[in-house]
Amino acid sequence: MAKTLGVGIIGSGNISTTYLGLAPLFKGIKIRAVADINNEAATARAAEFGVEARSIDALLSSDDIDLIVNLTIPDAHFDVSKQILSAGKHLYSEKPLTLSLKDGLELQKLATTKNLKAGCAPDTFLGGAHQLARKLVDDGEVGTLTSGTAHVMSHGMEHWHPNPDFFFRPGGGPILDLGPYYIANLINLIGPVKRVAALTSMATPTRTISSAPRAGEKIDVTTPTTIQALLEFESGASITLSASWDVWAHNHPNMELYGTEGSLFLPDPNFFGGKVKLAKPGKKAKAVKAWAHPLGIPNQKHSEGMMANYRCAGLADMAVAILEDRDIRCSLERALHGVDVMVSILRSGEEKKFIDIQTSCSRPQALGVKEAKSLLKKQ
Ligand SMILES: NC(=O)c1ccc[n+]([C@@H]2O[C@H](COP(=O)([O-])OP(=O)(O)OC[C@H]3O[C@@H](n4cnc5c(N)ncnc54)[C@H](O)[C@@H]3O)[C@@H](O)[C@H]2O)c1
Repeated sequence: MAKTLGVGIIGSGNISTTYLGLAPLFKGIKIRAVADINNEAATARAAEFGVEARSIDALLSSDDIDLIVNLTIPDAHFDVSKQILSAGKHLYSEKPLTLSLKDGLELQKLATTKNLKAGCAPDTFLGGAHQLARKLVDDGEVGTLTSGTAHVMSHGMEHWHPNPDFFFRPGGGPILDLGPYYIANLINLIGPVKRVAALTSMATPTRTISSAPRAGEKIDVTTPTTIQALLEFESGASITLSASWDVWAHNHPNMELYGTEGSLFLPDPNFFGGKVKLAKPGKKAKAVKAWAHPLGIPNQKHSEGMMANYRCAGLADMAVAILEDRDIRCSLERALHGVDVMVSILRSGEEKKFIDIQTSCSRPQALGVKEAKSLLKKQ
């Protein structure tokens, strides 16, 4: 069997640079070509990274492509993913998988019927910091997790993204855009969610873009930008999740989990690395010694300093899983459960009642140091 899958990308926008830039670190994947509804975007991106630009139809029917990554905007995810699976290619999608549970279930059915694999970002929970937290939980360091808090709050996306419209339309908003990182991490640590409730609102009906090239242009806000949610897990644990793009500053930590034997303090689930802290009964929280996990090693310069960025880890894990015939960590089953949780949070805000989650899933296999090293080319 081949050792590498031929990979194509549909959607040559902002995040495609990260995929094209980081893919060479990983085994199992070789990005051969990119496509976009806007041919110019694909041509420019292809030239930048030395891959081919193809039309969407040509990519879908290419014999050298086994798996296609969907990096289009959220409200195109379902249609493009459906085209990918219908063309007989394995699918890896950026988050959110779909904007409704119905569409996600249709993709799941299509993948099963066509005997294809499907996976979905986020993959940041595979990072060194979050896998360290996972190991502490699995080793019983905090006992049974019973509750916790998660906060993802800032003042929006219109100051950095060149085309921020999609963030403020249905399919965007902080729950569907950033919620996937938090919910995937919570599923990784606690397991599936049973029911949710939420209050949802928006601070202003329009936003003014301050990033180039459209600075000064006003865009309509048609999805909630502040969400206060309660999540009850199948295990009985309860979590409060605050997600907002209407907050200028705050002092809340990203994620804290409380167990019968201690408390765990996690870094931002939107990133792979960071400090994990642990507090044992009656003791102050202490930083846990970082372990030699390769997906936690800082490798990119950011304004706040060096950070770990290993996006593509989930895609590589999926490719290796296909080649080795094992389970995918960033699986469709978990992404679908995530969609169910997120759309139910938004529905609860509209209907003003608790919503029972219809789907369930298993926790992904932990990705320890050895397993993470086995995904990377250099060890
Ligand atoms: N930008 C980031 O930092 C980031 C980080 C993580 C995840 N994501 C996710 O990645 C996805 C893409 O985000 P982005 O920031 O790259 O957006 P973007 O707007 O920069 O790029 C999207 C690209 O998709 C193309 N496109 C739109 N509809 C299409 C269709 N029907 N068929 C083919 N091409 C189509 C657009 O022409 C555009 O080039 C989103 O789901 C987003 O949530 C983005």
